[in-house]
Amino acid sequence: MKGIILAGGTGSRLWPLTKVTNKHLLAVGQKPMLYYPLAKLITAGIDEILIVTGVEHMGDVVNLLGSGKEFNCRLTYKVQDEAGGIAQALALAENFAGSDPVTVILGDNIFQSSLADHVASYMKQGLGARVLLKEVHDPHRFGVAQVDSGRVISIEEKPRAPKSNFAVTGIYFYDADVYNMIRKLRPSGRGELEITDVNNAYITKNQLHFDMLTGWWSDAGTFESLAKVNELVLREPPL
Ligand code: DAU
Repeated sequence: MKGIILAGGTGSRLWPLTKVTNKHLLAVGQKPMLYYPLAKLITAGIDEILIVTGVEHMGDVVNLLGSGKEFNCRLTYKVQDEAGGIAQALALAENFAGSDPVTVILGDNIFQSSLADHVASYMKQGLGARVLLKEVHDPHRFGVAQVDSGRVISIEEKPRAPKSNFAVTGIYFYDADVYNMIRKLRPSGRGELEITDVNNAYITKNQLHFDMLTGWWSDAGTFESLAKVNELVLREPPL
């Protein structure tokens, strides 16, 4: 199992905090945001990790994290030339991952629980994809899963009329088929290759499973959610 942290994008919803820096370098609690997904991978036993970010701030990200030696992991970096979507960023991991399964975390997803049990469930699953769902009060902000008889039957990206309160968190497990599936995608209405389309392609193949994520979870992509994760993280023991 290898790990991937996606830390590209424009951070436009946090402007002007993101005018001269990358969203994932902003402070959360006592640490830069990127430290949190990194720690989640490492404590789940994943120590070969790829970080994808945009060209503007790659230098700062490398200055911050280096080879990974300080964190007892091995880091590789890839540049995403423009913010063409989460699935486009993930496609850049193909050479790094080879035929290995991957755990993917969106760099602005901060959460309480360990990933170790979910990694174990995915390894037992053996192929396909696995997503982690979380019940939220504002599902229209996320990918929303419709669950029936213990299966995810569809995922809608930021629906106006959500069919459930189950947000698809930015924590995903994939096999090496994911890169072929991304090659078949077309950009969405907002001009991005959507991770929701990847997950729906796995649903079509009957290969998407899920776990519920326990503990608190939030993205940190808006002023409100960034303030919220700061508060939540400061209640936890420091990293
Ligand atoms: O937080 C979970 C949600 O993340 C999911 O429920 C949605 O299905 C998923 O589409 C995503 O929604 P967002 O609108 O919040 O995604 P955002 O554009 O904010 O990107 C989230 C992270 O993904 C960002 O922190 C870095 C990475 N990213 C994003 C884009 C667009 C990239 O690495 N490259 C990109 O081009």
